[in-house]
Amino acid sequence: MAARGSGEAVLECLSLFIVLHFFFVSANFFKPFNVSYDHRALIINGQRRMLISGGIHYPRATPEMWPDLIAKSKEGGVDVIQTYVFWNGHEPVKGQYFFEGRYDIVKFVKLVGASGLYLHLRIGPYVCAEWNFGGFPVWLRDIPGIVFRTNNDPFKEEMQRFVKKIVDLMREEMLFSWQGGPIILLQIENEYGNIEHSFGPGGKEYVKWAARMAVGLGAGVPWIMCRQTDAPENIIDACNAYYCDGYKPNSHKKPIFWTEDWDGWYTTWGGRLPHRPVEDLAFAVARFFERGGSFQNYYMYFGGTNFGRTAGGPFYITSYDYDAPIDEYGLLSEPKWGHLKDLHTAIKLCEPALVAADSPHYIKLGSKQEAHVYCASAHTDILNSTWHRSKSSCSAFLANIDERKTATVRFLGQSYTLPPWSVSILPDCKNVVFNTAKVAAQTSIKYVELALPYLTDISTPPHLMAQNEGSNIRTSWVTVKEPISVWSENNFTVEGILEHLNVTKDRSDYLWHFTRIYVSDDDIAFWEENKVSPAVTIDSMRDVLRVFVNGQLIGSVIGHWVKVVQPVQFQKGYNDLVLLSQTVGLQNYGAFLERDGAGFKGQSKLTGFKDGDIDLSNLLWTYQVGLQGEYLKIYTEGNNERAEWTDLTLDDIPSTFTWYKTYFDAPAGADPVALDLGSMGKGQAWVNGHHIGRYWTLVAPEDGCQRNCDYRGAYSSGKCTTNCGNPTQTWYHIPRSWLRASNNLLVLFEETGGNPFEISIKLRSARVICAQVSQTHYPPLQKWVHPDFIGGNISVKDMTPEIQLQCQDGYIISSIEFASYGTPQGSCQKYSRSNCHAPNSLSVVAKACEGRSKCNISVSNAVFGGDPCHGIVKTLAVEARCVSSTKVGSFQY
Ligand SMILES: *[C@@H]1O[C@H](CO)[C@@H](O)[C@H](O)[C@H]1NC(C)=O
Ligand SMILES: *[C@@H]1O[C@H](CO)[C@@H](O)[C@H](O)[C@H]1NC(C)=O
Ligand SMILES: *[C@@H]1O[C@H](CO)[C@@H](O)[C@H](O)[C@H]1NC(C)=O
Ligand SMILES: *[C@@H]1O[C@H](CO)[C@@H](O)[C@H](O)[C@H]1NC(C)=O
Ligand SMILES: *[C@@H]1O[C@H](CO)[C@@H](O)[C@H](O)[C@H]1NC(C)=O
Repeated sequence: MAARGSGEAVLECLSLFIVLHFFFVSANFFKPFNVSYDHRALIINGQRRMLISGGIHYPRATPEMWPDLIAKSKEGGVDVIQTYVFWNGHEPVKGQYFFEGRYDIVKFVKLVGASGLYLHLRIGPYVCAEWNFGGFPVWLRDIPGIVFRTNNDPFKEEMQRFVKKIVDLMREEMLFSWQGGPIILLQIENEYGNIEHSFGPGGKEYVKWAARMAVGLGAGVPWIMCRQTDAPENIIDACNAYYCDGYKPNSHKKPIFWTEDWDGWYTTWGGRLPHRPVEDLAFAVARFFERGGSFQNYYMYFGGTNFGRTAGGPFYITSYDYDAPIDEYGLLSEPKWGHLKDLHTAIKLCEPALVAADSPHYIKLGSKQEAHVYCASAHTDILNSTWHRSKSSCSAFLANIDERKTATVRFLGQSYTLPPWSVSILPDCKNVVFNTAKVAAQTSIKYVELALPYLTDISTPPHLMAQNEGSNIRTSWVTVKEPISVWSENNFTVEGILEHLNVTKDRSDYLWHFTRIYVSDDDIAFWEENKVSPAVTIDSMRDVLRVFVNGQLIGSVIGHWVKVVQPVQFQKGYNDLVLLSQTVGLQNYGAFLERDGAGFKGQSKLTGFKDGDIDLSNLLWTYQVGLQGEYLKIYTEGNNERAEWTDLTLDDIPSTFTWYKTYFDAPAGADPVALDLGSMGKGQAWVNGHHIGRYWTLVAPEDGCQRNCDYRGAYSSGKCTTNCGNPTQTWYHIPRSWLRASNNLLVLFEETGGNPFEISIKLRSARVICAQVSQTHYPPLQKWVHPDFIGGNISVKDMTPEIQLQCQDGYIISSIEFASYGTPQGSCQKYSRSNCHAPNSLSVVAKACEGRSKCNISVSNAVFGGDPCHGIVKTLAVEARCVSSTKVGSFQY
């Protein structure tokens, strides 16, 4: 294993990481411990545990981002990091393994361990994940006789070899729990139950084989299969869904696990942006633990980016933000992150009672209201209302599953008000510390703003800087045309239409097909007489087809196995016909992926000729894989001079199939950097040779977005979408570690045309933060953790709700834009005060918060010098601005 080490030079600059470096050497993060399970929970070191897990896929971030992502997960109350293993990243060529850079899985697992978190490794090796080809290397489909994911010897041999490779690697690196490492759980296969029926009896055999093979590797920690109702006895079958409360594993000896809690959704080019409201997400999680669940994983906790051509298909975008609690750029998504943190604290307060009980005690409270009580002592005590906190630990969840109405219920002699579609958590069976529908956490509004003028040219007067004001990309672009059709000796000519992936092996998205069509006088006369034109007709095609006649792009077809009817105009004599077939992410889901392929299927014809249709599969075609610029690697620093770049001027009409190149300086500071490609069409982008990903300015439908997102009721990915009528993605993450201070090489390949002069570098930050908490909210969760409260010595009455505000790292609160203690109306950035308003609201909040990175204010009359309106529940609403605490930020990697 030659891996690791890359990137360590950067880490060593920072003393904080020297500690981590130390860990790399010693490699033991925990005292070795055993992991097993019973019907209730995972048993870690002899103790049942309630576990919160967060999904982070290591190659969707850079190694330089990993420590911060892991730290933010831990701070958010996550106990376990979950990741897939990406086979096609680790074995791009059969037998040649790669474990470096973003694929340095050992370093990732060690960082998780060093932070004190556990790890759930989902080896698959089929992973779906909206990842190219579901994680399978494309060479796998070339193995003679192979059928993926069934009782097929060639497939099983390859799968076993890779799974064993990973398990052995983890064992060699001492990363399993019994070796003092963080790995507590593994996964074999992935949602196989969804497609098992397609394989007949072979599917059943395969499940048994996969389980036997996995367990036989002697990893020493439990294995799970998700969505696998026929998982064998020694494998835990787990749930993946928006809701998993009430899930029943296939044996009463197995615990209830939720491997994928979809806290958002993925996005396609031209799609709307999905959002899952945190009130509903928290409801789903609380219901899961309420009804006996013990392990829950957010899919994703951080989604990240599909760099390069790793996005799956059909048509998945480069961003894999997923509406996760940590956004694509590594910033907190608020209030999602904060509200879940509160939820996790509340669940942890219940953990002693949750693990003590073998199952919850159910109490019906109303037609759509119910309680589940976890108690170490006998159930009869609870029913009899004779139970006391001091006697034993008891925790309760009170749920109102009514989608519309608030309900008031009685529980153990007390009255509780439950908002619709919510769960209240009572760690002591008496006091509500949290309700899933009451969000106290702050909201953060992110801005994507033009970066300040470049660092090295800071002395240049602004008017001399750029024709395109404000952009910090130098406006001198150079350009080179990509040849249409065949461009190298690597071309070959055969009769017929070949299967796209059989030719490209996915080394490029692009496959050129070239032929010549002879057109006679009779054909021309026939078309004129009948007022018809010939057409390229193909039964079925994916993902993008571009048709060129005599060097001109005359049409494009976009779709997933759609029919093509593309009218063409020919001249008399010989005509060059070029079909450019493109993939935009290979299929990542479904049975028989090895047969799915790309390009064209069925019959391909030229219709409308006088003597009948021309069968394109009878013609001689010349094939060329990829682009000349890709082949020459003109996007790299070493090779970009191999292209004959010429200056681009503003008057040039930007043309199709063009490469563009420029240099830019990194923006100062540490804020995440985005490339704004909203002015471009479709293509790919590279910075300093790093492939940022595909870009495409495809616009989402005008309609189908919801103006108001109602959290109540069952979520599905079409609910609460945004961004209608706008391009699905215009900003592309450039990780800081891929930049140097100045002269960063930016190269784009553009297919359809756009204006590179409008490309800019932006910085992303949370500039506005808001929070709104009323007197009926619960006190901050941190306070409940205090031992005095748990011991019953502090009364709820002594605690008041609070607003807590915090700017992102490196930012401070510069001003309070709005503050009202009373009955303020509206929402973040649209607050207004009403008649009931404490006149000193603004000054009180400003005094507590301005100039600080974080602050908190009690929501009480005492703080605001009296009661602004008697007998009415008061609310404090605050909107604050955050600014960078270092005006001239130093450049950081
Ligand atoms: C209920 O509580 C009373 C008073 O403590 C006790 O006498 C009685 O036995 C209890 N009943 C049950 C069913 O536990
Ligand atoms: C295509 O390949 C043939 C045969 O190798 C070669 O003669 C021809 O020059 C190639 N075409 C281009 C454009 O390089
Ligand atoms: C792809 O190539 C393989 C042999 O290399 C062949 O068996 C298969 O039929 C080809 N697929 C298609 C769709 O042509
Ligand atoms: C709670 O109060 C009791 C009596 O006042 C005292 O004996 C006990 O130590 C206190 N417990 C804690 C955790 O402070
Ligand atoms: C609120 O702020 C005060 C003063 O800064 C601090 O002492 C207290 O711990 C804070 N409360 C919480 C819950 O953070």
